[in-house]
Amino acid sequence: MSAVRISDVHADKIPLGLCTFRGWVRTHRQSKTVTFIELYDGSCVKGLQLVIDPTLESYAAVAPRVATGASLMVQGELAPSPAKGQRYELRVQEFKLIGESPAEEYPLQKKGHTLEFLREILHLRPRSNTFGAVFRVRSAASMAIHTFFHQRGFVYVHTPIITTSDCEGAGAMFRVTTLDMEKPPRIDGKIDYKQDFFAGEAKLTVSGQLEGEIFATAVGNIYTFGPTFRAENSNTTRHLSEFWMIEPEMAFYDLHDNMALAEDFIKFLIQYVLDHCADDLEFLFAREWADKSMLETLRQVSTAPFATLDYTEAIKVLEKSGKSFEFPVKWGMDLQSEHERFLTDEYVKGPLFVVNYPKEIKAFYMRVNEDGKTVRAMDMLVPRLGEIIGGSQREERHDVLVERIKECKLPVEHYWWYLDLRRFGSVPHAGFGLGFERFLMYVTGMQNIRDVIPFPRYPGYAAF
Ligand code: 4AD
Repeated sequence: MSAVRISDVHADKIPLGLCTFRGWVRTHRQSKTVTFIELYDGSCVKGLQLVIDPTLESYAAVAPRVATGASLMVQGELAPSPAKGQRYELRVQEFKLIGESPAEEYPLQKKGHTLEFLREILHLRPRSNTFGAVFRVRSAASMAIHTFFHQRGFVYVHTPIITTSDCEGAGAMFRVTTLDMEKPPRIDGKIDYKQDFFAGEAKLTVSGQLEGEIFATAVGNIYTFGPTFRAENSNTTRHLSEFWMIEPEMAFYDLHDNMALAEDFIKFLIQYVLDHCADDLEFLFAREWADKSMLETLRQVSTAPFATLDYTEAIKVLEKSGKSFEFPVKWGMDLQSEHERFLTDEYVKGPLFVVNYPKEIKAFYMRVNEDGKTVRAMDMLVPRLGEIIGGSQREERHDVLVERIKECKLPVEHYWWYLDLRRFGSVPHAGFGLGFERFLMYVTGMQNIRDVIPFPRYPGYAAF
C-alpha cells in the first residue's frame, strides 16, 4: 500500500479507513495502556497522532526504540479522533522502525530551540516545525513567481552565474579562478589571468540584468530567477553573500509601465502566499518573535494602491519631519532604512515608490532625466521593511550611455556588447529586481535573512 501524505489527511483529500504513513517521530508518550506518537512527514505543519495498543504484536520489539527523530512506517485505521485539538488519529495495526535516533545525541528535542541554535545545525533545522514552514513558503513563492510571469507570456531566461561583466559597477564580486594562488603566473608584476581557466578574469554574477536586457531586446518580455552573489562585508540581518533574485526586463516599457508591473507582481505574490500557505503562516506568526499585526500589513499591501514620491520630494518630507535621524538628511544621499521606514510607516502609511534618484547614487545603466541630475530609477518601499525592489528605465541612447559609463569610471570596452544593443534597433526598456529572501522575510515574519534561505552564506560563514 502506498503511503499517504499527512497534508492530504488534514485537507480531507483521502477517505478514512486503512492507510499507511511514513515519517519521523516528533513526540511520544507511553503509558501502560496506550502509546501516543506524533508523526510528521514534512508535508505540512501539523502531525498525525498515532495511537498504539501495547498488545500489538510488533510493540515489544519497536516501542523501546522509538525516540524523537526516529523514522517509522505505520499502518492502521485512520479515524475521527475523540481528543481535543485534532480531527483524526491513526489506530495503528502495524508499525515498523526504519531508522533509530539515539535520544541522548539527537539535537532537536521537544523543547523549543532558539533560531540561533538552529542556525548551527543547518543539516537538521529543516526538520523543525518553524523551518519546515519557512521552506514550504519559499517553495510556494517560487511557484508563484513562475505563475505570475507565465500568465503574462514572459520568457524565463537563465543568465550566467559565472560572468566577466560587473552589472552594478560596484566591484563587490567574488572571483572564480583555478590558478594556484600560492604561485600564480605573473606578467608585468600582476597576476596573468590569461593563463586562468577562462583565459581572463571571471567572477560570480551580482545580477542577471545586463544579460536579461540582451533577451528582452530579442524576445520582448523576460525574467530571470536565480542565485546572485555579493562580496560586500555586510554583516546585517538583511544581507546575504548569496541570495536569489527575480529580474524581469521588458522591451518598450517606460518607468511607469515598470512600476505598474512591480506593483501587480508584489500584490500577486503576497496574495498567493496568503492563499496557499495559510497554515504555515498561521504557525509562523504565532511564534514568539513574530509580529502578529504583520498579517494585516500584508493584506494591506496586497490590496492598497501604491503611492509615488519623487526623490526630491521625499527629501523635503524627511527634512520637514522634525525627526532626528541617525543619518542626516541631504539631497544627494542614499535613503537609509530609517528614512524609508519613516516614509512608509509614518508619512504614506502604506507602500510607495520613490522615483528619480540623483544619478551619482545609482548605477550607470539608468536613463538620465532631462534635468541631467537625476535618473529614472524606482525603489519600491513597503511598510515595516523599506526597500524590497529596485529597478529603472534603462538608458537606450548610445551616446548618453557611453558618457555614463565613463563618468562612472568603468571600462567602456568591457561593455561593447551591451552598447551594441543600443546600436542595433535600440528601444526604451525597463526592469527591476526583487530580492527573493527580502520578500520571504516579509511574508514569513522571520527577522533575520539567514533564516529564510536553506544554506545562508555571509561574511565568515559558508557551512557545507
Ligand atoms: O538594488 P539591486 O542591487 O538591483 C540590481 O541588482 C538590479 N540589477 C536590479 C534590476 O533592475 N534588474 O538589488 C535588487 C534587490 C534589492 O532591492 C534587494 O531586495 C535585494 O536585491 N538585495 C539583496 N538581498 C539580500 N542580500 C543582499 N546582499 C542584497 N542586495 C540586494
